[in-house]
Amino acid sequence: MGCHVVDHPLVRAKLSTLRDASTALCGFRDALHELSLLLGYEALRDLEEEITSVQTPLEICGGSRVRDAIFIMPILRAGLGMAEALSELLPDAPIGHIGMFRDEVTLEPQPYYLRVPPGIEKANVVCVDPMLATGNSAVSAIDQLKKCGAKKIRLVCVVGCPQGVARMTEAHPDVPIFTAAVDTGLNERGYILPGLGDAGDRYYGT
Ligand code: URA
Repeated sequence: MGCHVVDHPLVRAKLSTLRDASTALCGFRDALHELSLLLGYEALRDLEEEITSVQTPLEICGGSRVRDAIFIMPILRAGLGMAEALSELLPDAPIGHIGMFRDEVTLEPQPYYLRVPPGIEKANVVCVDPMLATGNSAVSAIDQLKKCGAKKIRLVCVVGCPQGVARMTEAHPDVPIFTAAVDTGLNERGYILPGLGDAGDRYYGT
C-alpha cells in the first residue's frame, strides 16, 4: 500500500505544464487529461486478472480479462477532469460522484452529495482528486465509500504533500495513493506548496 510517486519523464513534463502559472485554460485541461491517463494506467497495474483463451485467426492462445468491475469516483469538482480521462481508458467503468466543498476557515470538508454505482462491494474503486492537501477531503471521501461497502479502493491524485499523505495513510492504510509528486508542504490557507494553485479554478477557468 502506501504512497506511489509515479516516476516517468512524461509524468514530470505534464506536471510541469500544470504547475506553470502561464499555462492557459486549454493547455491546463489537456495536461490534466494526459497526466490522468498516465497515472490511471499506473494505478491499475495490479488489477486482478482472469485467464481466458482467445481464438486468433491462426490458433488458440491464452488471454486475460480484468476480474472485477472498475468504478471511477471523482471528488467534485476538480476530480471531474481526471474522471473524464479515466473513462477514456476505461470506457465501461461507471462513474459515481462525491460532492464536498472545503470550509475555508476550518479547512474541513463539508459533504453535500454522494452517488455510488450499484455493486461497489466487489468493484475496484478509483477515487480521483488532483490535490491531496490536508488529506481531510480524501479521508472523508474514502470514509463515505467504505460506508457504502467499497473494499478495494485506490486514490489517484496529481500533487500530494507530506501532511496529506500522512493523514491518508494513517486513516486508511489499506488504500494506496498514486500521485505525480509529493510537494514540500501547505500554506496557511491549505494550498500545496509549490503545487499548482487551485486545481478546480484552473481547470474551469473560474
Ligand atoms: N486544492 C487545490 O485546488 N489546490 C491546493 O493547493 C490545495 C487544495
